[in-house]
Amino acid sequence: MHYFRTLPEQWPHRLGLLAAMGANCVETYVPWNLHERRRGHHDFTGIADLERFLTNAADAGLAAIVRPGPYICAEWENGGLPAWLRAADATAPLRCEDPDYLAAVDAWFAVLLPRIARHQVDRGGNVIAVQIENEYGSYGSDEGYLRHLTGVTRAHDITVPLFTSDGPEPSMLTGGTIDGVMATVNFGSQPAEAFAALERRRPDDHPWCMEYWNGWFDHWGEPHHVRDAADAASTLDEMLSSGASVNIYMAVGGTNFGCWSGANHDGAFQPTVTSYDYDAPISEHGVPTEKYHRYRDVIAGHLPIVSELPEPTPVLPASTVELGESVALADWAATLTPSTGPMPSSFEELGVDNGLVWYRHRLRGPREARPLTVDGLADRALVMLDGRPIATLERDGVTAVDIGVDGPEATLDIVVESMGRVNYGPLLGERKGVAAVRHRLQTLHGWECTPLPLDDIAGVPWGSTSAAAGPRFHRGVFDVDAVGDAFVALPGWTKGYVWVNGFCLGRYWDRGPQSTLYLPWPLLRRGANDIVVLELDGTTSTSIDIRPTPELGPTSAAPAI
Ligand code: GLA
Repeated sequence: MHYFRTLPEQWPHRLGLLAAMGANCVETYVPWNLHERRRGHHDFTGIADLERFLTNAADAGLAAIVRPGPYICAEWENGGLPAWLRAADATAPLRCEDPDYLAAVDAWFAVLLPRIARHQVDRGGNVIAVQIENEYGSYGSDEGYLRHLTGVTRAHDITVPLFTSDGPEPSMLTGGTIDGVMATVNFGSQPAEAFAALERRRPDDHPWCMEYWNGWFDHWGEPHHVRDAADAASTLDEMLSSGASVNIYMAVGGTNFGCWSGANHDGAFQPTVTSYDYDAPISEHGVPTEKYHRYRDVIAGHLPIVSELPEPTPVLPASTVELGESVALADWAATLTPSTGPMPSSFEELGVDNGLVWYRHRLRGPREARPLTVDGLADRALVMLDGRPIATLERDGVTAVDIGVDGPEATLDIVVESMGRVNYGPLLGERKGVAAVRHRLQTLHGWECTPLPLDDIAGVPWGSTSAAAGPRFHRGVFDVDAVGDAFVALPGWTKGYVWVNGFCLGRYWDRGPQSTLYLPWPLLRRGANDIVVLELDGTTSTSIDIRPTPELGPTSAAPAI
């Protein structure tokens, strides 16, 4: 279970469900970029309160395994690495013994590890093991780096067993394991084969599946993955019967709130959706599924289960909310101060990790109609000429549009959206924004760059009545009699973001598969609640729906790996 994917008020409920399923331990990653969004500024409050999570787990009778990375993969923005690691240098080495990278990691671990150390079992806490890096053998081969992390971890008084975690292929185990640190393997099926591969390399290590992929995550525009419950339960039983240890990945689904979804790049960019339900035994909204009950039966055959299932969470009745007020994104951008320079700055250079950046150039005319090309687009851009939307560009899609200027000048606006940083493979750390814009072969120099961070929209100038075209915020109010879980559906809307009482639920996109966003009860209050939608592409609707059930989309089987 990832604490950062569930609101803290709900942690005891989810942990109670885990214990009642028969789990004796909970594992979590730690996402560095959530805790240190700006270099040197650390946050351990609210959804980032790792120690509260560990204490809640102990209260539920669960031991804890912590995987502090610093890289975590996890379908999380940049695999957990802060975007600022690449602020000064677009190719700064990551995940190796580069001195600048190590200095940043060491400073972070000096803050983080003492907070984990005081929760270790020998100090009255529940932490029983700590991971070094994450699937390092799938990425690099710097043994010195893994040894460095091990040394730093021990130096901060982590005395519980340490382990690495890798895929079962020989190159992965060769690259990811180190002497003196336990090795574990990650897979979704065929446990005997995977444990045999582990045993060949590490005959003395206990068979331990650190990630049993019993479901899978989804990308925008692809089907929703599910894994048959009976098949998943029989693989779990096979592992437990053989005496192996297993960490169910994921046991509790969750949500990539705000802009925290990562992305894959397998020949093409594949952004991950907002839901991290994962077809887990405990769903994104904390409901025990068929898989949960089958697992409970399996585990009861191996361990006594003492906990009872906690009470289910109430849900809101269906309703429709009118969004009567609206304001152009351009009007918000106009209130903010841009950075200027001859070339467009990347998100990293502007000091923002995610959201949108509004790029503006005064395009001198006259000029004949020629292709405007955007180099290094990451990831999606709305192009406007004199305030009129003329094209939507997308990496791996259309990246050029013909434009010309009749008069002496036109305003060229390019609004770029980051769809999440790649969290796996060599494109980790890739910069967001645009690298260069050209009209035919002429590089366009002179840019105003305005970051629009989407996690704080308090400054949106509601009441502004300008008729500016392009993306718009829409706002409405809905009343709640008794607080409960709900789902937001957006029929007739295309692509954007939703906030409830100022908290960003995440992205929506009519490409699917998911067509509802989870609205967890702690965000709501009795009485009036505020909902804001930022629509980037255009809508035919003026209302959204509140629904009592999720819709994660048409399904396909999780990959058999
Ligand atoms: C790997 C990673 C995890 C996660 C899974 C897929 O095993 O270690 O962080 O990305 O793949 O969900």
